[in-house]
Amino acid sequence: MGAITAASLALPANELAAIAADGRVRPFRVPLAIPPVMTPVRRGRNRDIYEVTMRKARSEILPGKLTRTWTFDGRFPGPTIKATRGREIVIRRRNALGVPTTTHLHGGEVPWRSDGHPSLVIDPGQTYEYVYPNQQEAATLWYHDHLCKETSRNNYMGLSGLYIIEDEAEDELNLPRGRYDIPLVLQDRRFRRNGSFAFKDRVNQVRGDVYLVNGRPMPFLKVANRKYRFRILNASHSRGYRLSLDSGEPLVQIGSDQGLLAAPAPATTIPLWPAERAEVVIDFSKYPVGSRIVLQDLVDPSDPTSAKPIMRFHVNREEDDPSSLPPLLRQIERLMPLPGTVERVFRLSQNLAGKWVINGKAFDAGRIDISPRLGDTEAWTFINDSSATHPMHIHLVRFQILDRGDLQVSPGEMGWKDTVRVDPSGRVRVIMKFEGFAGRYMFHCHNLAHEDHSMMGQMRVTGGSDEQQRQAGGYVGASSSASLPFKCDIRL
Ligand code: C2O
Ligand code: CU
Ligand code: CU
Repeated sequence: MGAITAASLALPANELAAIAADGRVRPFRVPLAIPPVMTPVRRGRNRDIYEVTMRKARSEILPGKLTRTWTFDGRFPGPTIKATRGREIVIRRRNALGVPTTTHLHGGEVPWRSDGHPSLVIDPGQTYEYVYPNQQEAATLWYHDHLCKETSRNNYMGLSGLYIIEDEAEDELNLPRGRYDIPLVLQDRRFRRNGSFAFKDRVNQVRGDVYLVNGRPMPFLKVANRKYRFRILNASHSRGYRLSLDSGEPLVQIGSDQGLLAAPAPATTIPLWPAERAEVVIDFSKYPVGSRIVLQDLVDPSDPTSAKPIMRFHVNREEDDPSSLPPLLRQIERLMPLPGTVERVFRLSQNLAGKWVINGKAFDAGRIDISPRLGDTEAWTFINDSSATHPMHIHLVRFQILDRGDLQVSPGEMGWKDTVRVDPSGRVRVIMKFEGFAGRYMFHCHNLAHEDHSMMGQMRVTGGSDEQQRQAGGYVGASSSASLPFKCDIRL
């Protein structure tokens, strides 16, 4: 109680008014928060060591209220980790939550034992060491809980954060950087009157009525009249956003899930489904000082009045802009199916029992669904036999979209991806090369309600060196704490 009163007293009047008498949260009353960047506990010659504790916390998300959260180091969302290509990161994650958990690095090319396999859990009180080689190109990745059947709840409570890889090629472009390079983590949540999350494990979707950016409801950001880079992550459970500006100006997309596009792609709307990332440059020099521009979700693209505010930019000052936006961002070699390319088809549907399934099968941690070989190129076709959108995600590899059946693939989707939206009754064909590591990895729908119930498959990547094969091998004995309330029967 004491803490709540103290927090309320410290608030300026306009923040207090952020919550209307009827409980509705008013937009643009609180400033955008930016998750702090973690510092390593030790810097070695080629690797940095981090330590983080997963623990319960109370976070001020709605002004003047405290929400019970499950966090990395007490932060909602978690602190940002910044990596440099070629420099390894080791993270020791200690679980002080009181429930099992496991952390996945979404979009990371990592050894499978560091991939956060849903059955490879960190039991309460235990510490697990994750090794991230960071051999891949610059990209905005993110880490999040991946516990078998509890991913939805654990993420809702707060177990996610950003992981940004930087590299020289990107540095040389002189894009907006430093305080002009801002992450925007989009989430939606439902709150009870007392500020606690109203989470319910649902099979079809988990949605909230309050839009959060970096853990604050529909915030504002004061900006200078210059270019900014925004790294937008959809960390919501089920909600797809159609991002647009209320000024009608296009958003200039420069990156997607796995880093920069080949060239900037202006678009009036950018669809962003769970786990997808879009990086955009907004040039506020177009607007006179004093302008306010809303980043919004065009809920129904055919009806402009359906737009819901996500956050607002307030151009409040003049500043020089030494950054640039080059017409070419990087070379992206197109992958093409050739003789020898392995073709796979995945049909996405809901079975008679109401479960979400891939090729008719619900997830089973004890079953290997496919065994791609290192070095092989594979083309996967996702066919959606349902009326829901499925953002399909593949661990370990990055892919390119070959086609969307008869529909156009937009320029913003022509870069490297790790998650792709499959529209209702639609189809998408993607192509990838298996590289890096052998072992057990997942592929699944990233609507976390679907993922938990049970739209996920397991692949065992084979081949490579003897060591890689050994690592990819069988289960290595049961965990000591089999008595915990853990619902997936297999433990690795
Ligand atoms: Cu971000 Cu397996 O997921
Ligand atoms: Cu992933
Ligand atoms: Cu789905």
